[in-house]
This record gives sequence, structure tokens and C-alpha cells, in this order.
Amino acid sequence: MTQRALDFNYLRTLVFEQSGVVLEAHKDYLAELHLDKLATQTGFESIAAFTEHLKTIPLSTLHTQAVEALLISETSFFRDHYPFEALCTSILPPLIQSRSSNRMLNIWSAGCSTGQEPYSIAMLIRESFPELANWTVRLIASDLSTRSLDRARQGIYSNLEINRGLTPVMRDRYFHKTGQSWQINDDIRQMVEFQQLNLLHSWDTLPELDVIFLRNVLIYFNSDTKQSILNKVQRYLREDGFLFLGSGETTFYLDPRFEAVHGKTSLYHRLRNSSQ
Ligand SMILES: C[S@@+](CC[C@H](N)C(=O)[O-])C[C@H]1O[C@@H](n2cnc3c(N)ncnc32)[C@H](O)[C@@H]1O
Repeated sequence: MTQRALDFNYLRTLVFEQSGVVLEAHKDYLAELHLDKLATQTGFESIAAFTEHLKTIPLSTLHTQAVEALLISETSFFRDHYPFEALCTSILPPLIQSRSSNRMLNIWSAGCSTGQEPYSIAMLIRESFPELANWTVRLIASDLSTRSLDRARQGIYSNLEINRGLTPVMRDRYFHKTGQSWQINDDIRQMVEFQQLNLLHSWDTLPELDVIFLRNVLIYFNSDTKQSILNKVQRYLREDGFLFLGSGETTFYLDPRFEAVHGKTSLYHRLRNSSQ
């Protein structure tokens, strides 16, 4: 095995142990792509020297930074469109009806990356459900990566990021210009509670949830990790709540307590025998 392959094996193991994410052995180009800048910024002459250093010291913020740099953070506003349409037309209306006595809703964007997903949900609520202004709506967004969360909290996006999923009308309604970029307006930003949460660890900071967006996250885990996360989802999701996964993701074969519902525009998941 070459030194490069050995180094990548070390990094893959580190990423797996810290996040559950499985990086395939042949994707060693990911190290070149994502660690070069970090290695230089932290004073190493090459990725090899940086990795060698990681191997010799106890777990540190440098390891955390390396893991965060290697995680896939791909996202966009209203990604795939259809789940948001389903949220708007099939999910929120009945939930609003069934929660009308206590007027509380808890929605979670798990693995929210740089914030486009929770802000899309916040804009959708503001746009289509003005009646929720008088409710207690907790829109929680979490990620393992503090680097992504810092960006999410700032809510500043490039033109390119804005153009991926937002119309000019939505952009102008919910963002303002800051230099060459766009920042989400404070009223939308304040609707989202960001928190750092590693899905492998405790979820104690979460309330019971009505809607969970766990999209394009499970896909990076092995079956055992997927099962253990779905097991936690089952405990935190209210019995009549809804789970959205990414378009290529499923609970099928993983957890029989969930059933897939083929809605008008999108697939989502419920707990079997849920009361609705
Ligand atoms: C591809 S992004 C998906 C973003 C968004 N949900 C979407 O669908 O557009 C996957 C996110 O999962 C996060 N992630 C990976 N492993 C995690 C873990 N163990 N705990 C929490 N978040 C994790 C990554 O940091 C990344 O931001």
C-alpha cells in the first residue's frame, strides 16, 4: 500500500469514528480536495505532513477540523423542491389542525449543513402559514460541523448559492445585500435555533418532534449506523409526526416501524399505526 493510501486510511478511520460517515477507500482525492487549505493554514507543508502530525498527537481541535473538512456539506435552498411542496400542502395543514389546542410545533432539520434547509422551511412558514406567527414554533437546526454551523448562523450566501433554489422574488423578500453576497433577514434568521449535535451521540437537547428533515445524511452511513439513528428518530418523532429523508434514501429493510407514504408530490415516512 502506498503512503498516500495509508494516510487516507487513517483519515477515513478518523472520520468514521467521529461522525459515522463512511468514505470509500478509492476516494483519496477527497483529501487533496479538502485538506490542502487546512494543512497550509495550520502551518504544514503538505497534506502528508499534516496527516503524520495528526497520527502522533491525542485527539484535538486539529482532528475535528480535518473531519469537518472531509464531510460532504452539499446543500441548496428548497433542495429537490417536492418535499417542501409536500410540507406546505400535505403535512403542515393537518398538523396545524391537530395541534390547534396547544399551538406548538417542533420541526428539526438534522444535518442542516450551512443552513439552506432550515431557512427554506422558515421562509415557507412565513410565506404560507402566517397564522403560525402566534404559535410557539421551534425550528431546530443541527449539524456536527461547527464550521458549517458558523456559516448557517451568519446566513450569508454567494450569488451562486442564492441562485440554487431561490427565485429573485424570494431573494428580494427574505435577503438583503451585504457586499457581493446576500444575508438572510433577521426575522427569518431568528426563527431558527441552531445547535451542534452529533447524530451518533445524545439527542437529549431535543424536544419531541412533529416533523424531522433528515435529508441526505443517512446516505453517508453504514447500515448499523442508519439503524441506530432511525431507532432514535423513532423515539423522538411524535406518533403522528413526519420524517423526510433524501430522495435516494429509505427506511425500507432498516426499520419496519416506519412506513413510506407516497404523497401527491413527494415520498415521506410515518410511524406505522400512527393515529392520523
Ligand atoms: C450533504 S449535507 C445535507 C444537508 C441538508 N440536509 C440537505 O439535504 O441539503 C450532510 C450534512 O450532514 C452532516 N453530518 C454528517 N455526519 C453527521 C453526524 N454524525 N452528526 C450530525 N451531522 C452530521 C454533515 O456535516 C453535513 O452538513
